[in-house]
Order: sequence, then structure tokens, then C-alpha cells
Amino acid sequence: MRLLFLGDVVGRAGRDAVSERVPRLIADYRFDCVVINGENASHGRGLTEPHYEGLKAAGADVVTLGDHAFDQRDTLTYIGRAETLLRPINMAPGTPGRGAMLVEVRGGFRVLVINALGRVFMGPADDPFRAVEAAVAACPLGEQADAIVVDFHTEATSEIQGMGHFLDGRVSLVVGTHTHIPTADARILKGGTALMADAGMCGDFDSVIGMEADEPLNRFLTGISNGRFTPAEGEATLCGIAIETDAATGLVTRLSPVRIGGVLAQALPDF
Ligand SMILES: [Fe+2]
Ligand SMILES: [Fe+2]
Repeated sequence: MRLLFLGDVVGRAGRDAVSERVPRLIADYRFDCVVINGENASHGRGLTEPHYEGLKAAGADVVTLGDHAFDQRDTLTYIGRAETLLRPINMAPGTPGRGAMLVEVRGGFRVLVINALGRVFMGPADDPFRAVEAAVAACPLGEQADAIVVDFHTEATSEIQGMGHFLDGRVSLVVGTHTHIPTADARILKGGTALMADAGMCGDFDSVIGMEADEPLNRFLTGISNGRFTPAEGEATLCGIAIETDAATGLVTRLSPVRIGGVLAQALPDF
């Protein structure tokens, strides 16, 4: 099966790029499943219900979140009825919503999607390794799941490499989100799991990680806040990774980084 994963959607620019480009990508590349991280889709902070619905309408089979999961307070309420929205699995016990779900996608494939928060240079969270391992054990690859995608939302590239090796051969894809900057390390590990340290964002790269540069730069220079961050509104680059999996094992046979539109655009090489 063929799966597209897109990193953090930032603001209107990111939402527009997803709406305008993802339906065509699904048709052109015959993706069976699309997973999109939406944690910054609503003015750079969290995800409102209308914006979640917009990502779904564009073709997202599952939408994941991250440390900004509940920046929009109504997410605490609507996540209970949002059937394809995930927040990180290792948040405090009792947090609304779910951290893993099995969805049936085009072609009848069953895809387990897991969202987890890292702990290096991040706020407090429960152990992501054991939490993800338990979710995988409950729905093993090649048995109940035809593919397993882990969106590991964290700052440190080392922590994501660790998660990749921890899960090698047991999941299809371990991909980082959160830094908003796409990394050049996408590869298939020895056991058949695809690993990429950060998918990058779906946002305007003429910015500081999706925000107009003035205020972040001001804070670096002065250490004093002079207002809120404002999402940059130029054309977004869609960033992520495309994978193809073996139908029997769920392991990855080929992959391609994705960077479409905007200032960071690259072609999808022969995928
Ligand atoms: Fe983000
Ligand atoms: Fe984040």
C-alpha cells in the first residue's frame, strides 16, 4: 500500500496548501492512506474543529497532534467525537481523546496510527517508548495492521533515531514532527522500518518555523516579548514522506521525501 505523511500544518498558508494540493496528490500517486499532523493549523496554535474537518475533507484519513494539542480549548471537547483525530498517547492519564487508532483506508488496508510526545527538550510526558510498544503489541504489524505509522513529536533528532531502532521491523514508519524543518535522513532500517527525523512542516518557509520572522527575531535579540507570533502567509511548502509497504509484511519497500510548492519545493523523485 502507499501512504503519505505530512508534517505540522501551520496557519492559513498550510491549510490552503493541503486543501489545494492533497486531493490531486492522492489521485496522481494513488495513495491509499494520508496522515497529517495538524497541531499548528489554527493560527499556529492547535486545531479547531472546522480546521480539523478541513484537513479531513482534503483527504486526511487520520490527523495527529503534538505539544500544541489543546492550545484551542474546544479541542478538549470535540476530540471525544472526532473519529480520526489523535493526541499524543503518553499524555497524563485521563487526558481526553486517544493516542492510537486503527483505521480502514482505501483498498481495505488497516492502518494503525500512533502519536507520541518525546521527552528530550520537551515538557513532561510519560515514557513514549513503552506507550508506543504497548499500542503496537495490541495490534501487530502483518496481523491486525497492514501498516503502522508512528508520529513521534519531539525536538531531538537523536530521540527519534532511538525510537526508529526500537521499533525496527515492528512498524512501517517512524517519522518525527515538531521542529518544522525537514531532515535529509529518510531511509529504510535493516528490519524494514522507514525512519525520518522530521517530516518538516506544511507552511511558509519564508519565516521562522512558520511564523513571521520579526517577533521571533526580536525575542532572540532582546529576550523581551513584543507581541504574539503571527503565522507567515506566503505560499506553503507541503513537507513529509511517502512510503510504499509490502502488503504481506507491512514493511517498507520504497520511500520518498515530499516537498511540494513554496520556497522549499523539490520534485518527488520517481515515486
Ligand atoms: Fe508544530
Ligand atoms: Fe510541536
